[in-house]
Amino acid sequence: GLTTDLAGRHVVVSAGGTREPLDPVRFLGNRSSGKQGYALAATAAARGARVTLVSANAELPDPAGVDVVHVSTALQLREAALKAVADADAVVMAAAVADFRPAEYVTGKIKKVDGVDPAPVALVRNPDILAEISADRARPGQLVVGFAAETDDVLANGRAKLARKGCDLLVVNEVGERKGFGSDLNEAVVLGADGTETAVPVGPKEALADVVWDLVAARLA
Ligand code: C5P
Repeated sequence: GLTTDLAGRHVVVSAGGTREPLDPVRFLGNRSSGKQGYALAATAAARGARVTLVSANAELPDPAGVDVVHVSTALQLREAALKAVADADAVVMAAAVADFRPAEYVTGKIKKVDGVDPAPVALVRNPDILAEISADRARPGQLVVGFAAETDDVLANGRAKLARKGCDLLVVNEVGERKGFGSDLNEAVVLGADGTETAVPVGPKEALADVVWDLVAARLA
């Protein structure tokens, strides 16, 4: 429908998947396409919001009327997100952020040497951006939404993650064959810190995005 319930609001959305470089030509990455985050940004803009989209390596066109900040690594995503959320009414972290990055960046391409075993890759933890934004709300009443892809015990794992992250809403989706990564379809349950549980049947990523904004708009009102 034609709704401008987010008019006058600034929302920040993260999308895509971070890449953590090992050397100039290699990285640790993930399979996130960025489609759900882009759908969230486009639907928020259609509902009247000013939208900042922090996009990590999504090979998708910039949505019309959205401010897009392109980043690659988790640390870059953190910096861009923290800057953007300063005056945001709502933040939706849909990006797949790498939990770990290589401890060392090798400035020259890592070479294979005959008869020499490869060196193990040491990893260090990346900061949890969602937990950080949730803990230090840049504005009173700022709404924070996280995403969680789970393969089993979706609701129990989702509830535990919601509490751990400290966000207001957690969109939990079961990663399966027809939905999730790369697909145009998604199915999810949106868990609220207030105890609510909203099931969203399999459908286009835009439909899930609209449910998320419905829940956000209701809580901002
Ligand atoms: O812990 P997990 O990676 O399953 O949590 C997913 C949620 O947390 C997503 O909303 C993701 O954007 C966010 N996240 C983050 N920083 C990390 C890891 C995940 O903000 N380092």
